[in-house]
Amino acid sequence: ERGAGLPADLAGRHVVVSAGGTREPLDPVRYLGNRSSGRQGYALARTAVARGARVTLVAANTGPDAPAGVDLVEVGTALQLREAVLAAAADADAVVMAAAVADFRPARYAAGKIKKKDGEEPAPVELVRNPDVLAELSHDRARPGQVVVGFAAETDDVLANGRSKLARKGCDLLVVNEVGESKAFGTAVNEAVVLGADGSETPVPLGPKEALADVVWDLVAPRLP
Ligand code: CTP
Ligand code: CA
Repeated sequence: ERGAGLPADLAGRHVVVSAGGTREPLDPVRYLGNRSSGRQGYALARTAVARGARVTLVAANTGPDAPAGVDLVEVGTALQLREAVLAAAADADAVVMAAAVADFRPARYAAGKIKKKDGEEPAPVELVRNPDVLAELSHDRARPGQVVVGFAAETDDVLANGRSKLARKGCDLLVVNEVGESKAFGTAVNEAVVLGADGSETPVPLGPKEALADVVWDLVAPRLP
């Protein structure tokens, strides 16, 4: 798929990629989840391997076809993803947070299956905030110059929302997708703009997730220490 002569600009580098979507359990059979397939994260991991990097792939509930040649760490919840990403980030040159991390988790986990009761309305599900892994990575860099990249799916004023999210998170690059009926989730193609903390704006035309992944690494490589 990738021809000869492509850059080995990540040789000797360790990069961490998170992929998929976290699931926050309610009871042994139910969870709060999201529609992330993990395909963009897989494409990032695959292209980083092709460019010579050592890759740790932290995969949350992704499919069975993880790319070859990565150190795979499988996680379920946002708290597990945080632990795995922070551990792997300790000696990483770059971290790319492609995973959809649940903002909230159920405040309580029911050890037994939640049952309905005759004539009773269901109890409301109380939620609590999950930690923001991307903000934490960005604000407490594990290594000086470590490059941190986030992803954001936005509607409405996509660029303005992306700019303010980039500033809020404190990351170096934010890949902003416009989400709509058939865009981004569960498809093989993606269209995005990559915003840089330096004010740069790199549009990525509709195309395979590999192409977007390569643009991300094209932008990461020159920012590495
Ligand atoms: N992210 C994270 N930890 C969270 C939530 C999100 O690390 N608890 C990361 C995602 O992996 C992604 C980026 O932050 O790279 C943006 O996610 P997004 O859901 O768009 O950001 P939020 O700050 O949660 O904003 P929103 O309220 O729009 O969901
Ligand atoms: Ca969110």
